[in-house]
Amino acid sequence: MNVANANPDACAIERNANLSTHNTFGVTARAAGLAILRQPEQIPSLLETAATLGSAPPLLLGDGSNVLLLGDYPGLVVVNALMGRAPIDEDDDSVIVEIGAGENWDALVDWSIARGWNGLQNLALIPGRVGAAPIQNIGAYGVEFDSVCTAVQIYDREQTQLRWLSREQCQFGYRDSVFKNAGVSWWVTAVRLKLQRKIVPRTDYAGLAEELQLLKLDAAKAADIATAVRSLRRRKLPDPAQIGNAGSFFKNPIVSTKQAQELAKHLPAIPRYPQDNGWEKLSAGYLIDQAGWKDFRVGDAGVHAHHALVLVNHGAASGRDLYRLANQISADIAKRWDVILSIEPRVIDSTGMCMR
Ligand code: FAD
Ligand code: EPU
Repeated sequence: MNVANANPDACAIERNANLSTHNTFGVTARAAGLAILRQPEQIPSLLETAATLGSAPPLLLGDGSNVLLLGDYPGLVVVNALMGRAPIDEDDDSVIVEIGAGENWDALVDWSIARGWNGLQNLALIPGRVGAAPIQNIGAYGVEFDSVCTAVQIYDREQTQLRWLSREQCQFGYRDSVFKNAGVSWWVTAVRLKLQRKIVPRTDYAGLAEELQLLKLDAAKAADIATAVRSLRRRKLPDPAQIGNAGSFFKNPIVSTKQAQELAKHLPAIPRYPQDNGWEKLSAGYLIDQAGWKDFRVGDAGVHAHHALVLVNHGAASGRDLYRLANQISADIAKRWDVILSIEPRVIDSTGMCMR
């Protein structure tokens, strides 16, 4: 490791760093530099270093569980390790907690449940760090991050300052937020969440109530709901420690009710989730499965054998191999059923741009 820095606020920079352990696809890639961010005060000096290090802007990562790296990154990759978990306000009904962006998401779920603070139980076992949760407004089992978020602290790299955004300013949507807009140069440094003392259980998501019953768990207890969610997730989704993946590779498409009705004439069993104002969300996994892609493999890039929405790296697939396969799948789905699939993880090329 080549460490260069004299400034006490500065982070050590590892040159020509290996990124394969910093993305859960496990694709091989190198970065011009890699640094671990532990204090917000280190950001200005990190940005100065980044400007001298390569052609791409600095890239902030958590655990790399929602990225597809297309190749080497000719710039500074910064791993977020801004820690801290604390209650900052409370009343008879709720507590507001402030959480550092580098904290592990699933550990936060357990920490909150152990204190009797409810709201995160359905989001158990989602990989990654807290700072990435607002980026795509993580969601699972009927709950999304925005249902508990009250504010997000950012470092604005253009204005070179920390400030808080309200929940409304974050423009949360399904797997979407203001942070995904091109040109936004904000790094999430902390979040504030409002958690409830009294639980309002959400067990209506397909399979969750059944899992609680099967495991003889209490559907009114946050710890039990988290246990059931973890059990379901372990059964359905591949573990990145066993086989490289980034969870769902495509978002579930949202189409007009008219289009969903037309499609259902050919695919009567397709799972349909009604949305507001004449729109419906469809199961992308079902469409990809019906098109025969499950367990497909070209070289080491493949579709998971048990869940068609998850692309996997069987060993030596490159980011470009996986991206090529994803494009083949989405072209096939568009041709068969006129449904456009959008990629969920951030596809990162050598300019630091996130391709959709
Ligand atoms: P990374 O992958 O490191 O980063 C993702 C993107 O956010 C990158 O563009 C990065 O530059 C940016 N980013 C990261 N941190 C910051 C920050 N602090 N400030 C600004 N930008 C930042 N997601 C769900 O929503 N629901 C699920 O149920 C779910 N299940 C999954 C299951 C598996 C097996 C896997 C592998 C992934 C799953 N995901 C799921 C996706 C992933 O876990 C989430 O998107 C998670 O929030 C990513 O966290 P991370 O720290 O790994 O982010
Ligand atoms: N299905 C198939 N074949 C498959 C896979 C799924 O037919 O190979 C059908 C089944 O009918 C199944 C339905 O699709 O019942 C839905 O599957 P699942 O419950 O696994 O949910 P999903 O819609 O595929 C979404 C999220 C997940 C989240 C789960 C649980 C998206 C893109 N994905 O998956 O999030 O964990 O619901 O809430 O919204 C992620 O974002 O990375 C992720 C894993």
